[in-house]
Amino acid sequence: MTEEALLARDVRKVYRSRKGLGVEALRGVSLSIRRGERVALLGRNGAGKTTFLRIASTLLIPTSGRIHAFGFDVVDEPERVRPLIAVVPQEGKPFFHLTPREQVYCYLRARGFARDTARARTEEALAKMGLEEVGDRLSVTLSGGQRQRAMVATVMATEAPLMFLDEPTIGLDPFARRAVWDMLRELTQKGSTVLLTTHYLDEAEALSERLYIVEEGRVLFEGTAENAKRQIGGTLRVSIEDGGHQRNLFQAFGQLVEEGNALYVITGPERIHEIMDVALRNRLSATVGPVTLEEAFLTIVGRSIDAE
Ligand SMILES: Nc1ncnc2c1ncn2[C@@H]1O[C@H](COP(=O)(O)OP(=O)(O)OP(=O)(O)O)[C@@H](O)[C@H]1O
Ligand SMILES: [Mg+2]
Repeated sequence: MTEEALLARDVRKVYRSRKGLGVEALRGVSLSIRRGERVALLGRNGAGKTTFLRIASTLLIPTSGRIHAFGFDVVDEPERVRPLIAVVPQEGKPFFHLTPREQVYCYLRARGFARDTARARTEEALAKMGLEEVGDRLSVTLSGGQRQRAMVATVMATEAPLMFLDEPTIGLDPFARRAVWDMLRELTQKGSTVLLTTHYLDEAEALSERLYIVEEGRVLFEGTAENAKRQIGGTLRVSIEDGGHQRNLFQAFGQLVEEGNALYVITGPERIHEIMDVALRNRLSATVGPVTLEEAFLTIVGRSIDAE
């Protein structure tokens, strides 16, 4: 098996419709993920994340380009790839006539695990996702978040070498989200590789070692969350209340972002003193905090939208 868990080269996908108007969902995506890595795929709605995950997980054929999972071509050798991967699909539906316990167990058995292993892994996954109390209730009677927990438990219990998770924590409460993060960290420590999508950028930052931002079917950024923040010109943000009308005072100190009446200056630690000084002299209240990945995302994707 190769060094890379996943290697994608120039993947393109055009969805053809009956009227002949195609949708170019992917316009040449290349990426590579090392074994044991946790990588997040970020992007606005419609950017192409789910399309990429579906192609990489053998569910959809690309228009052109190649993807290899552990050296196997996902288009030519799907039967070699499938035992090595597991998928939490976006808007996956549980089997309503099964209980979470039955669902996890049956899935593991279908993937070829022995009874004892399947039973032990089922109990472990239900416990980790906090599903013990509802483990024997039909899925149809569960809350939305409980169903999502059951989906995640089912897939994580496989401990597959490569996992694709399309918005796995959607609808989960903050405790359950953290349980998912813990499980994913544990799985990668054991050697699994994880590619996930999420719109929660705090999650992407807490969980992924590296991220890709896609926009309109192209990779716009690749690197760590730290790299992304540095790209926008600073790691600190000074928030100036009612600073919106005083842009000229702060123009020289870094990138300015206006939001309502507030003005944000994205800057480095060396300029903080001067900025606070100017704010004080002009009787403006200012606070300093770290730049978030969300701000970096908004800036990087925003620039690309403006450039069009
Ligand atoms: N079956 C399909 N037929 C035609 N167009 C499609 C199909 N599936 C997706 N698309 C289009 O392809 C583009 C990419 O969709 P995709 O589902 O990959 O986006 P996404 O990044 O997962 O978005 P989201 O964050 O909303 O889940 C969108 O413009 C979408 O409308
Ligand atoms: Mg999607």
